[in-house]
Amino acid sequence: MSKPKDSIAKTIGVAAALCIVCSIMVSMAAVMLKPLQVENQKLDIKKNLLAAAGLVKSGATKVEIEQAFANVKTILINLDQGQEDQSVDLATFDQVKAAKDATLGKLIDAKTDVAKIKRRERHSKVYLVGSNGQVELIVLPIYGKGLWSTMYGFIALAPDTKTVRGFSFYQHGETPGLGGEIDNKKWQASWIGKIALDGGNFGPIIRVLKGKVNSASPQAASQVDGLSGATLTSRGVEGMVRYWLGKDGFGPFLANFRQGGITL
Ligand SMILES: Cc1cc2nc3c(=O)[nH]c(=O)nc-3n(C[C@H](O)[C@H](O)[C@H](O)COP(=O)(O)O)c2cc1C
Repeated sequence: MSKPKDSIAKTIGVAAALCIVCSIMVSMAAVMLKPLQVENQKLDIKKNLLAAAGLVKSGATKVEIEQAFANVKTILINLDQGQEDQSVDLATFDQVKAAKDATLGKLIDAKTDVAKIKRRERHSKVYLVGSNGQVELIVLPIYGKGLWSTMYGFIALAPDTKTVRGFSFYQHGETPGLGGEIDNKKWQASWIGKIALDGGNFGPIIRVLKGKVNSASPQAASQVDGLSGATLTSRGVEGMVRYWLGKDGFGPFLANFRQGGITL
């Protein structure tokens, strides 16, 4: 009688070999796709930055994004001094890592920390858009805690440094349909034209309400509708905007800009 071809050892051997082959293929795919993923992430950040500046539409192609981005001047500033700082390499500067670093970042005093981020970087990128030497838009990277996540976005300001010209998010983990409505283009558009800073002392006056803005209210120009069913995310958005436009955020830079210290 011939020996049976199947045996437990053979089955386990084949299953193990298959597992090894599959895991090698998955790992190789992950490693090979990583650069593409990183590139796509960077492209998405650029797209959102440009969307905040109103320079591209949501369906923009890679070529359109790169072309539009070529017209944006990126500078690196020292947040406390509000001045351009060329001692830090713009090409390798990583804002998120800098915030966590003992020397490149700093602790934020709890009373000041309305964005609930605990630490922030000492330097930041700022994006300038304009023509003929005139800055027409200042785009600032901002972030803060929502209900579930840190929300990362861009706010674009007019050269008066107080009028919002655009707002967008490129990363967050809020619930789709609730806090995730921060991605809603209509809601983002409702920020355009809002007066975020006081015309006198340039302190933040923008508010995200619980509910709708009463257009007859004298404060309506500095108020935005809250997201329904997402009061906590809405509060987070208000906190992040107020922190970054305030004196511990981009306040010194915006003051410097108003005094003519920043040019294209
Ligand atoms: C599964 C689940 C997900 C939620 N996600 C969010 C969210 O992303 N943002 C938010 O502000 N509230 C979220 N909420 C609701 C909050 O717990 C809270 O009820 C809400 O912020 C209150 O807002 P409202 O006063 O506008 O209803 C979520 C609730 C549940 C049950």
